[in-house]
Amino acid sequence: MAANDVDVFANEEKRNLELGGHVGFDSLPDQLVSKSVAQGFCFNILCVGETGIGKSTLMNTLFNTTFENEEASHYESEVQLRPQTFDLQESNVNLKLTVVHTVGFGDQINKEDSYKPILEYIDAQFEKYLEEELKIKRSLYNYHDTRIHICLYFIAPTGHSLKSLDLVTMKKLDSKVNIIPVISKADTVSKGELDKLKIKIMSELVSNGVQIYQFPTEDEAVAEINSSMNSYLPFAVVGSVDDVKVGNKMVKARLYPWDQYRVMENENHCDFVKLREMLLRVNMEDLREQTHARHYELYRRCKLEEMGFKDTDPDSQSFSLQETYEAKRKEFLVELQRKEEEMRQMFVNKVKETEAELKEKEKELHDRFEQLKRMHQEEKKNLEEKRRELEEEMNAFNRRKVAAETLMGQALQGCSQPFKKDKDKKNFFSLPSACSLTSGRNLN
Ligand code: GTP
Ligand code: MG
Repeated sequence: MAANDVDVFANEEKRNLELGGHVGFDSLPDQLVSKSVAQGFCFNILCVGETGIGKSTLMNTLFNTTFENEEASHYESEVQLRPQTFDLQESNVNLKLTVVHTVGFGDQINKEDSYKPILEYIDAQFEKYLEEELKIKRSLYNYHDTRIHICLYFIAPTGHSLKSLDLVTMKKLDSKVNIIPVISKADTVSKGELDKLKIKIMSELVSNGVQIYQFPTEDEAVAEINSSMNSYLPFAVVGSVDDVKVGNKMVKARLYPWDQYRVMENENHCDFVKLREMLLRVNMEDLREQTHARHYELYRRCKLEEMGFKDTDPDSQSFSLQETYEAKRKEFLVELQRKEEEMRQMFVNKVKETEAELKEKEKELHDRFEQLKRMHQEEKKNLEEKRRELEEEMNAFNRRKVAAETLMGQALQGCSQPFKKDKDKKNFFSLPSACSLTSGRNLN
């Protein structure tokens, strides 16, 4: 229904009418300007470059101020991102500027994963924005947009070309952010070397398919300057926070030990002015727009597709958000039921397994008990047997003992009557035990 409505409007014939006098909607651009000015602007710069390459100095020079800078150590175990937000004002325009520095970039022995924290940071800012956008009660009007609008990639002037770390990092970032490569500390190389280095860098970027930000040439007002500036990329910059008196004017310049200086504002000395012109004065809005319309849009599309949202069904019929939501909900419920069933089945199997194990254990215990019981009965039987034998032995012993006592009694009686008949004597001497029990004196 909604799609048909759109079609109706699209096919509707447009008619040009002439106004009889001034109505006032020509002030719409002015209204937009004053609304934007009241709202203020956000601009976020990501500085990617090795430790000590001149990131902070260039930022200070660009904005003609001194941001809080902390020197990074060369011993960081991994790359970290340090964002700092500042409120700046120029005329009546308020700018919330966030400068993000890569701390420890290029300092690790293994630099393979150096690009990852940077990529994650950029994605995290997109994710935050997407979350805000998808909220029921969203407040994008006063939302602090932290998405990176520009990545200044600092290239050391010392090499003959780009390092593999530079190429890999720029390649990984080019679909996520607008990249402007800059050759830092350009005062440390000669003009001839610098020109050669610029050509080499550009050809390496092209041959490796690295997409850097191109200043737009569609808008007539800036087409000329932008197309000429595109040919200066990568900008060779020099940064300084020192003011030097040139003539009777104080200017930002770099003073050398041999008493010469290089003035930032002098275009013959370096590309600093070109960079500032392109970045802040001419293309700042385009950088913001490209970030939203190109990089964020790509992130959003991938993320929503990952979540299962689509605009059209397989027959190229457009899907309403409601339909997509319903389809996704059904899919989710089916998946949930499948998972539930899977878990239930797993639980039943586990219970069965445990039950079988317990039964096995019970059987083992029962067998052991039976075995012990048998052993105990056998032992008991043996003991009974032994007891009987011992009792018999005891009885026999007792009988022998009684017999011996009786005989001894009789023998003693015999000894106490010395003049008994010969027969009795004979009987007595025939008993050896009796003899041993009587003293020799009595017997003689
Ligand atoms: P970390 O934040 O510690 O990674 O360093 P950084 O990249 O911010 O470098 P920083 O701006 O602190 O500069 C490091 C040193 O390089 C300082 O001594 C600066 O004065 C010097 N420096 C900065 N820019 C230039 C430049 O354009 N030319 C020369 N010759 N030296 C520079
Ligand atoms: Mg720094």
